[in-house]
Amino acid sequence: MLDLLIRNAALPDGRTGMDIAIQGGRIVEVRPQIGAQTREVIDAGGLLVTPPFVDSHFHMDSALSLGQPRLNESGTLLEGIQIWGELKPDLTAEAIKARALAYCRWAIARGTLAIRSHVDVCDDRLLAVEALLEVKREMRPWLDIQLVAFPQDGFLRYPKARENLIRALDLGVDVVGGIPHFERTMAEGAASIAALCEIAAERGLLVDMHCDETDDPLSRHIESLASETQRHRLQGRVTGSHLTSMHSMDNYYVSKLLPLMREAGVSAVANPLINITLQGRHDSYPKRRGMTRVKELMAAGINTAFGHDCVMDPWYGLGSGDLLEAAHMGLHVGQMTGLAEMRACFAAVTANGAQALHLDGYGLEPGCHADLVLLQARDPIEAIRLRAARLKVIRRGEVIAESAPHATEVRLGGAVTREDFFWPKP
Ligand code: FE2
Repeated sequence: MLDLLIRNAALPDGRTGMDIAIQGGRIVEVRPQIGAQTREVIDAGGLLVTPPFVDSHFHMDSALSLGQPRLNESGTLLEGIQIWGELKPDLTAEAIKARALAYCRWAIARGTLAIRSHVDVCDDRLLAVEALLEVKREMRPWLDIQLVAFPQDGFLRYPKARENLIRALDLGVDVVGGIPHFERTMAEGAASIAALCEIAAERGLLVDMHCDETDDPLSRHIESLASETQRHRLQGRVTGSHLTSMHSMDNYYVSKLLPLMREAGVSAVANPLINITLQGRHDSYPKRRGMTRVKELMAAGINTAFGHDCVMDPWYGLGSGDLLEAAHMGLHVGQMTGLAEMRACFAAVTANGAQALHLDGYGLEPGCHADLVLLQARDPIEAIRLRAARLKVIRRGEVIAESAPHATEVRLGGAVTREDFFWPKP
């Protein structure tokens, strides 16, 4: 007897008319017309069922703090860091936790069931670390949270960053972070990468660094990160986040850099919503787009994901935890309008993020966790186009969030229609 049978689903790989059988919180079979006895049935009606969205880059400690203590007037990364620094002394563990829990509920409502969140360790009290470790524990039944020890004010630049980062790892933070472009010199940026990769290698941890989040084409810390990855045999375990300087780099240099990243098995995470607004602020016209070279990274065989990065905080005043917004923006900024490219943008907020995070049991194969999202769309491209409603969000075989289908009744004279923006109509 199955616990749940999802009937007539379209899958992200293009298969249609598929049934998904679930037992004991896991997928046990995926094929058309499964005939087994089941406790519960969900009829997908030909709509898309996908493994959940994965936010591969987020900041849960600052989320929903917009306006505290003031708004970012310049719109720059550096003013954002300044405002966060002003707020830090007034932070309380209770406030961080309350905001983070509220955000987790939003994320789940949007079908996001895994988040890698950086947590600032440049606060000697480590309030955010302790608060987010509690949030991680409390949310574990419903949401996978991976925490990155992030030295926001610089691993070498902030006097107690090393000590705090080690304390955070000892407390149970999962991943080693960094911010080489915020160190005082290029040499110190490179030295911070070497030291942080050494810590990760010694402890057997993953690495995810904010790397080259600048428009300076000579910010080449990703080269050091890939090289240190190889030196410490961390291949497949390291992520470079943002990588916006690649947008402005010389093409010849990039032609040498991409194979190095590929050989090092470094994942790339772009944050399209944030970087289209933060970058290019020192330009007049033309203004650079400030997103890394997603299309070229993917073509070079580098695992590339999209993150949300921020929601209503000193760096970004908008957002609601919707990874389809990140995919939509990434598609536009990267001019990824080909059919395969649009599908790749969907993968960037699902499977590619899962790979970067080393998520266990993610996917649609028998044996994977029964973590699934039923979308009001028939394929990944339609899902991005419509930022489709998440009709059902399923965790370990249980429905944990539901939305009504999006449709608007239009009354023109005597003609009444319901518009759901499907075309061609089913
Ligand atoms: Fe970030």
